[in-house]
Amino acid sequence: MAKLLALTLLGLVLTHYKDHQSFYERRLNAFREVEPVDLPNCNLVKGIESGSEDLEILPNGLTFISSGLKYPGIKSFEPDKPGKILLMDLNEEDPTVLELSISGSNFNLSSFNPHGISTFTDEDNTVYLLVVNHPDVKTTVELFKFQEEQKSLLHLKTIRHELLPNLNDIVAVGPEHFYATNDHYFVDSYLKSWELYLGLAWSYVVYYSPDEVKVVANGFDFANGINISPDRKYVYVSASLARKIHVYEKHANWTLTSLKSMVFNTLVDNISVDPVTGDLWVGCHPNGKRIFYYDVEHPPASEVLQIQNILTEEPKVTVVYAENGTVLQGSTVASVYKGKLLIGTVFQKALYCKL
Ligand SMILES: *[C@@H]1O[C@H](CO)[C@@H](O)[C@H](O)[C@H]1NC(C)=O
Ligand SMILES: *[C@@H]1O[C@H](CO)[C@@H](O)[C@H](O)[C@H]1NC(C)=O
Ligand SMILES: *[C@@H]1O[C@H](CO)[C@@H](O)[C@H](O)[C@H]1NC(C)=O
Repeated sequence: MAKLLALTLLGLVLTHYKDHQSFYERRLNAFREVEPVDLPNCNLVKGIESGSEDLEILPNGLTFISSGLKYPGIKSFEPDKPGKILLMDLNEEDPTVLELSISGSNFNLSSFNPHGISTFTDEDNTVYLLVVNHPDVKTTVELFKFQEEQKSLLHLKTIRHELLPNLNDIVAVGPEHFYATNDHYFVDSYLKSWELYLGLAWSYVVYYSPDEVKVVANGFDFANGINISPDRKYVYVSASLARKIHVYEKHANWTLTSLKSMVFNTLVDNISVDPVTGDLWVGCHPNGKRIFYYDVEHPPASEVLQIQNILTEEPKVTVVYAENGTVLQGSTVASVYKGKLLIGTVFQKALYCKL
């Protein structure tokens, strides 16, 4: 196996050696510039300056935002501060954010490095927040209970597992029950460089429950966002470097069967699903090189796609917003609530628009 792997690597290296730099640049879509698509009524959200990497809007308009991600090789405007979870109420006319306090004796706040998040609401209306965390460049999943009155999160549990080595995003189907993407970003840097340069597509999706943990889909070129349809029958996974969104049918035993995939001319990141229409809203990086190699003169652009009728033969894809990074840099996620669109970014601001 090791030998086969070595030979495969050698073959790939020889094939691409001549112009592997430009091969890598093509993978990152490094030559793309965006055509601006404007929305007339947008405001930057006050209080978000160091990222809004992932966000989730509850049916009542309360919104959780993960902020302050430290990702190796990616820009941070607050490299010495721990990350945080922000709360925003989209029912307010001009909503601002407040930082949720976190309590719980076994939780280390100073190494909090939140990434993908997801919520689960049980029959008693208790809201659980699941957060992918990267303390000291490792991966854990933190389970919190949301205490609305106190505006705080009570830490209940830290989940670690060997099949959860390098998580990016998560979608909860119960308080301790989720699908998650392993993007492989934190694996050994030597292996990672091969994987990223050559597109070895080693990243995968895991189903986790206290009783059973299993790989349910693999072969992704940087699996990133993951989400589920409102009827809970389909799971969507974005593969950022392949620029694809994969659609899976979910079975009662939690396994996934691949149905189809769609290809885009942009690095697709988080997927949010409109709970009413089932449309997918995708935060994208038109030009991935600008995300991985930050240059203030050529900042990463932002782009938001809406995908309607994804299960049909002819899904409709609309570029709802595109901007060259002068306003919003590196959009990762976009989500809708009552005719408004909230767009988050890896390490910069967040934008709130009327549609
Ligand atoms: C908490 O995290 C910080 C930063 O990584 C680390 O220096 C410290 O040792 C951790 N504390 C505990 C109790 O693990
Ligand atoms: C899970 O369910 C699907 C659909 O019913 C079935 O095809 C598959 O064999 C099952 N897998 C396992 C491991 O039970
Ligand atoms: C981005 O677009 C704005 C407005 O269209 C333009 O003024 C600016 O020069 C552009 N910036 C870059 C870096 O292309």
